[in-house]
Amino acid sequence: MKKNIFFWLAILAAALMFVFLGWAFSQHGTIGLFRVNGTFQKLFIILGVFGLVLAALTLLEKHLHSRQAKHSTNILSFFVRAGTLLGIVIFVFAFFYVGMIPGPLKGGQSPQLLIEDGSGVNGVPNLAIVFNTEKATSNTVKWGPDNASFTLNEEKPAKQHVFALNNLQPDTRYWYQVNNGQKIYFNSPPAAGKPLHFAVGSDAHFGAEDSRTDLTSKMLHQIVDPAKGYNMFFYLGDLVEHGFTDSQWQEALKTMSVTTSEIPAKYIVGNHDTLLGGLGRYEGYCEPSGMVLQSGTRLWQRIDVGNVHFLMIDLEWSAESFTAEQGAWLENQLASIPKDDWKIVVGHGFYYASGSITDGWKWYDNPETINKLSPLFEKYGVDMVFSGHAHQLELLQKSGVNYVICGGFGGKPDDPRQYISPESVWYASNDYAFMDVTVNATNANLIFRDPDGKVIYSQVIQKH
Ligand SMILES: [Fe+2]
Ligand SMILES: [Fe+2]
Repeated sequence: MKKNIFFWLAILAAALMFVFLGWAFSQHGTIGLFRVNGTFQKLFIILGVFGLVLAALTLLEKHLHSRQAKHSTNILSFFVRAGTLLGIVIFVFAFFYVGMIPGPLKGGQSPQLLIEDGSGVNGVPNLAIVFNTEKATSNTVKWGPDNASFTLNEEKPAKQHVFALNNLQPDTRYWYQVNNGQKIYFNSPPAAGKPLHFAVGSDAHFGAEDSRTDLTSKMLHQIVDPAKGYNMFFYLGDLVEHGFTDSQWQEALKTMSVTTSEIPAKYIVGNHDTLLGGLGRYEGYCEPSGMVLQSGTRLWQRIDVGNVHFLMIDLEWSAESFTAEQGAWLENQLASIPKDDWKIVVGHGFYYASGSITDGWKWYDNPETINKLSPLFEKYGVDMVFSGHAHQLELLQKSGVNYVICGGFGGKPDDPRQYISPESVWYASNDYAFMDVTVNATNANLIFRDPDGKVIYSQVIQKH
């Protein structure tokens, strides 16, 4: 009887390895994690092999025991018992560490002013005030231009709150107020024909021990400074180190909201954000279901600001997340934009890049993303492509497309490049920075700024 319990416990421990692996691979992004991150690849393989070996030894022990080979089973029994204990400990640890049953979203309690997918009626996109509450509540938002006040009431109590601000006039000062709290002021983006000024940051990695959140905060203060006059802020992913850890989202959103409550902002998804079940947190915090989708999905969207068009794409580890469906969508969008308008692609993963081999993956010129996307960029005359993922600063130019890598928003910088991309125009490692971009009628000014706002590098891009 006792032997039987040990036998079934050992089989259970072996099976739990595959329960975990099955769960992990059912999560968004895990195929990319397995392909690109050599450490996780080894870990997953070790878990699978451990499960198989434990199952095999358990069956062998049972077989020998049934043949009364007592002496030969003693040492084997020891390994099976030890393996059983280890397997159960590993599973319980993994279950709670990554949250296989996801816990509640406790972050995002400060309001954020997020940009909605598509076009607004007056040439500037619709915005949404987004925040979360720990308990289900009904809230009120008042808002308007200086000379008016509109009231939005939630009908049903909820934990996620989305208040749409539609029909905005361009270049106008507005205010909003959540539940009679402090009035917050913001400016809507300008109309077609006026310069559009936006900031871009990527790869803050909140929650990583080696992240410089002090520098992230400095850059956020630069971007929100009214004297700098930023109209919009694009954040290109890897906001947190572990997408499955809610406390990292709590810290990140609290820090970001200093800026994202006042500057219309857009979060693009990164591979760390969706890590092992993190997708639900990214969507809950950055693209809650109440935000209206006009052209895309919660992971890929288009934003129109006058004659400047932003295509936000889902490119996480390599090109795994760039599905055929997304490719068809991107091509349709690009084809529908007038030839002389600005086309700007923003996403997490890079294409051309200098870099090194890390964890067994070539973190530079990526043939998978280049082959899938660059022909589209070239065919439809995309002007600028912004990405992060590589923790470095780089400008590359290929066939009229300007590729900007700005993964310097706080995550640990990558080691200096060992491979130099033939398309590289300028490169810096070991620098923290954000982008300051002004799109004019016939050119755009790209500036890499350090956390104090000082210019590290600038380049004027001509419109093709
Ligand atoms: Fe990153
Ligand atoms: Fe990344």
